[in-house]
Amino acid sequence: MKRIVTLLAVLLIAASNLHAVKIIHGPYLQNVTATEATFVWISDSVSLGWVEIAPDDGTHFYVTERPQYFDCANGIKNESRIHSVCIRGLDPGTNYRYRVYAKEVTEHRGNYVAYGQTAATDVYRKQPLKFRTLDSRAGSVSFTMLNDIHGDVPKLQTLIGHTDLSKTDMVLFVGDMVSVFESEEQVFGGFMDAAVDLFAKETPMYYTRGNHETRGRSAWAFQNYFSPFSEHIYYMYRQGPVCFVALDSGEDKPDSDLEYYGLTMYDNYRDEQVEWLKQIVKSEEFRSAPFKIVTCHIPPFGGWHGNDEVAKKFIPILEEAGVDIMLSAHLHKYVHKKAGESASFPIVVNSNDTVLKAVVDGKTMKVEVLGMDGKTVDKFEIKK
Ligand SMILES: [Fe+2]
Repeated sequence: MKRIVTLLAVLLIAASNLHAVKIIHGPYLQNVTATEATFVWISDSVSLGWVEIAPDDGTHFYVTERPQYFDCANGIKNESRIHSVCIRGLDPGTNYRYRVYAKEVTEHRGNYVAYGQTAATDVYRKQPLKFRTLDSRAGSVSFTMLNDIHGDVPKLQTLIGHTDLSKTDMVLFVGDMVSVFESEEQVFGGFMDAAVDLFAKETPMYYTRGNHETRGRSAWAFQNYFSPFSEHIYYMYRQGPVCFVALDSGEDKPDSDLEYYGLTMYDNYRDEQVEWLKQIVKSEEFRSAPFKIVTCHIPPFGGWHGNDEVAKKFIPILEEAGVDIMLSAHLHKYVHKKAGESASFPIVVNSNDTVLKAVVDGKTMKVEVLGMDGKTVDKFEIKK
């Protein structure tokens, strides 16, 4: 018996030594601005996490120690599987290289902490990951928009396949990327792992939440993965001639609807955004932008409570502020309302099986919408 117990103990120790921590999701970029960038990645076991960055100066990543930015809050490094780090003080319009790490915490008792192995993104067999900060002085911006993917990875891959990612500054996800925000596996398996493989490691993705991301057991944890350092998940960002405003339209039915089981307070939430919106449209960043583009999952037409709320609460402020276009989603059909039809500016609802591509310089916004077969569904320009 004693021998069996000893053998089992040895096998257990051997098995624990065999485990090597892995980065299982990400890394991906969030909330890249002119001077900061957020990195998110997830390991398969509890770990400490950090990012190293290096200038894009042609040196080998290993030439010197690179500065480390830890996933840390209130002076304590986070022992977690989900890691996020926001690096501030970056230079606008500048290329950087980066590497993320996860150092496994195998035991933590009182003051005592034991570590296992460390995983990191590859800078030896592969080029280090790269990103570029935004710059309001850039002459133009190109972006691709997708929405209502509802966990259909092949659809995401097909639609993204109709874009030249090497010529795309940013990708906008405008909601309902999954049907229910139930678990990490569902979110990453449903779209985010594919997004990381395709672009999100190096090309910033800006997420406008849809109503389906508000549903499910993990809906409350949305901000652990997306916009983790933003004050809200509605926000503003500026690249070149465009100031983007991402609004969160919440759910589509009244808060009292039995489908929400007493969990939602979206009327209040939209009121809160109204106060924020009134302030940000006065900002220099917004006012000085030649083009002002709003993303909002639920469009201001369709006859449901959510549509009416967007129409009543957001549209008057956006009209007053001189917005050029609203890009919406939710309806699972392509709709292009011209200026004057539903608001003083055009409103485009991208479908669940179309991809919207745009290039904007100081004078013209050129938009093309393509279907699953890569054929043009719509093409238009907005000129200043
Ligand atoms: Fe939706």
